[in-house]
Amino acid sequence: MKRDNEISNIVIAGGGVMGASMAQIFAEHGKRVSVYDISEESIRRGEELVALSQRERVRDGTLTETASRETAGRISFVLTPDVFENADYVVECIVENMDVKQAFWRKISAIAPENIVLATNTSGLSISEIAKAVKAPARFAGMHWVNPPHLTPLVEVIAGEETAEETMDVVYGLALSVGRKPVRVKKDARGFVLNRLQFALLREAMHIVESGIAGTEDVDKVMKYGLGLRYACVGPFETADLGGLDTFYRIAEYLFPDLSDSKEVPALLARHYRAGEYGTKTGRGFYDYPGDAAEQAVSRRDRRLADAAGCLIGERETEVTPPGQIRSGTP
Ligand SMILES: NC(=O)c1ccc[n+]([C@@H]2O[C@H](COP(=O)([O-])OP(=O)(O)OC[C@H]3O[C@@H](n4cnc5c(N)ncnc54)[C@H](O)[C@@H]3O)[C@@H](O)[C@H]2O)c1
Repeated sequence: MKRDNEISNIVIAGGGVMGASMAQIFAEHGKRVSVYDISEESIRRGEELVALSQRERVRDGTLTETASRETAGRISFVLTPDVFENADYVVECIVENMDVKQAFWRKISAIAPENIVLATNTSGLSISEIAKAVKAPARFAGMHWVNPPHLTPLVEVIAGEETAEETMDVVYGLALSVGRKPVRVKKDARGFVLNRLQFALLREAMHIVESGIAGTEDVDKVMKYGLGLRYACVGPFETADLGGLDTFYRIAEYLFPDLSDSKEVPALLARHYRAGEYGTKTGRGFYDYPGDAAEQAVSRRDRRLADAAGCLIGERETEVTPPGQIRSGTP
């Protein structure tokens, strides 16, 4: 199987929000990238996304004009699937639909070389289920990036039932080689790790608001200025070690019975959903976004993420693993 250090020619399927962004990350690290899409309009949009974000990188000083020109020069957009024949690695970022993904992989896994890794950026569809359409599924794995990829370095590397360990190593190694912080998800569990944690937290956040314990804005503040800030620096297990496991045990004993363990979509979320209030995209969600407030919310998030990422993954951050050693026997 082609190892991660032998990959120079990457094919990304789907040149949308994620594909266009990932293409630039690979290209900045010297890879040649072909972005394959099925419609001319999508290709035009993908090219615009790349041009726009390269202009921003030059303007904010994170890329020189020369480096930006070289990056863009390594990316080509194509409508014909013959690019898969010479790929060293394929990552699929097409629409989040099982039938569409399976149809794509049925065709492409028969064209792509047998000795390369094939990956999907699905947000949460079962890797094992998609793999049923893949020829030689031992070389197939999940490679889940987080939006916006240029500001959030995490990549979840997910094993399906058939995925070979060697395949996991290639995806992990490739992510690492382009400046990402990959993690191994050993079981194809729904939501992988990030979304399981995110939705466990969102369920309790809504439970707090619905129970009248605190309001929406204050729950967001607790995260931004307390828990979120802490979790950007130390994870939940490191936090518990630093706080004392005796204390955490006692709190877990009295607090867990009080937390939400509902299996239903919370009424608060369902109400917004039924009213067509989808958040920034419709101008109304948990908050209202009159005028250009939605655009401002996106750019404020990106500015803050860029600042935080600069601290955490910039030159000052050298540690990938925490200073403590993982104990033998710890799962
Ligand atoms: N947007 C996010 O926040 C996010 C985050 C992580 C993962 N993902 C996942 O990444 C994938 C893509 O998401 P996105 O937000 O970039 O979507 P998008 O709608 O912006 O882009 C999808 C692109 O795929 C193209 N496409 C559709 N069918 C195709 C096919 N058969 N062959 C080739 N191209 C095809 C479309 O023309 C479009 O350009 C999804 O699986 C999604 O769940 C998205």
